[in-house]
Amino acid sequence: MENKKVIFSGVQPTGKITIGNYLGAIKNWTTMQEEFNSIFCVVDLHSITVNQVPAELRKNTFDLLALYIACGLDPQKSILFVQSHVPAHTELAWVLNTVTMVGEMNRMTQFKDKCRKHADNINMGLMDYPVLMAADILLYQTDLVPVGIDQKQHVELARDVAQRFNNKYSPTFVVPECYTPKVGAKIMSLQEPTAKMSKSDENENAVVTMLDDKDTIMRKFKRAVTDSDTVVRFDAENKPGVSNLLSIYSCFTGKSIAEAEVEFEGKGYGDFKTKVAEAVIEGVSPIQAEQQRIVKDKAYLEEVLKDGAYRASKLAYKTLDKVYRKVGFIPRVR
Ligand code: TYM
Repeated sequence: MENKKVIFSGVQPTGKITIGNYLGAIKNWTTMQEEFNSIFCVVDLHSITVNQVPAELRKNTFDLLALYIACGLDPQKSILFVQSHVPAHTELAWVLNTVTMVGEMNRMTQFKDKCRKHADNINMGLMDYPVLMAADILLYQTDLVPVGIDQKQHVELARDVAQRFNNKYSPTFVVPECYTPKVGAKIMSLQEPTAKMSKSDENENAVVTMLDDKDTIMRKFKRAVTDSDTVVRFDAENKPGVSNLLSIYSCFTGKSIAEAEVEFEGKGYGDFKTKVAEAVIEGVSPIQAEQQRIVKDKAYLEEVLKDGAYRASKLAYKTLDKVYRKVGFIPRVR
C-alpha cells in the first residue's frame, strides 16, 4: 500500500440501503478513496446479530457490493470485500473481547435500542457487535473511520479498546479517529423528523431507499412531515422536518444550506418538497442504472470479491500475527 493514511468503513447487507446510509457514509467514501488507502467492507457477520433470511442475506450481500461500485467505489483504488471472507475479523474480536468490559458494552446506546426492538432475540452477538466492529477497524491500522453520527460511540469504543491493548501489551494498534460529514451525518425519518432515518423502519414512507423508483421518491417527499410555518429555514430544533429536507437537498446538489435557503425564499413547502425530490431522483437514478447492470455480472463481482479478500487478508493477518505474538500464543508450525 502507498504511504497514505488508512480509512476503513462498512455497511450491513440488511434490507434496503437508504439515502441516510449513502449521505452519511458511502458518498463520502467515494471522494475519500482518492486521498486515502481505502478499505470498504460488506459487514455480513454484523448483520446476523438480528434475524436474517439466509437466501435474502446472500442476495443483499451481492446487491450491496454492486451498489458500492455503482456509487463510485473503485475496486482498483479501494479494497472492497465481504467481512466473512477474512476470518481474521472474528479471530481478533475474540482477543479484543478480553480487554473489553461487560459494563461498557451494557452502556452502548445502539445495543440498548436493539434490545428494545428485538426483545425476543437478545443474543450475545448483539452485545458483542461493537467489539467485532473494533476488530474490523483495528486490523487495518485504520486512521479514520468515515461513518454517520450514530456510529460515533462505537468508534470511540474502538479507540478505548486499542489504547487499552496498547497499554497492556505494547503499542500495536493505530488509535482511529471518527470522521463524520458536516452535512448529512444524521439524515432523519421523513415521517418523524426527530428520529434517525433507519433501514429497519416499518413505515415505508419514512425512508427513501437507494433503489426506490422516481414516483415513489416523489410521493415520499411530498408526504414528508414539516411544520405549520411557511418559511424554508434551517433550524434543527424548531423545524426538524424542513431542516432535514434542506440537508438532503444540500448533499445531493452540492449547494450550501445558506444557498438553498435563499433559493427557496418566498416559495411554499409544496415547491420545496418537489425540488428536493427532483434532486434526489437526479442523484440516485444513474446509480440505480449502474447497480442493476453490475449486479447481473456475477463473474465480475466474484472477481472483485476474490481480489478484495486476498488484499484485505494480507493486511489483516499482518496485524493478527502481531497480536497473537504479543498476547503469548506460540507460533503455529507450518
Ligand atoms: P449500518 O449498515 O447500520 O450503517 C451504515 C452506515 O450508514 C450510516 N447511517 C446514517 N448516516 C446518516 N444518516 C442516517 N440516517 C444513517 N443511518 C445509517 C451509519 O452511521 C454507517 O456509517 N456498525 C456499522 C457497520 C460497521 C462498520 C464497521 C462501520 C461494521 N464494522 C467498521 C465502520 C467501521 C453500521 O452502522 O452499519
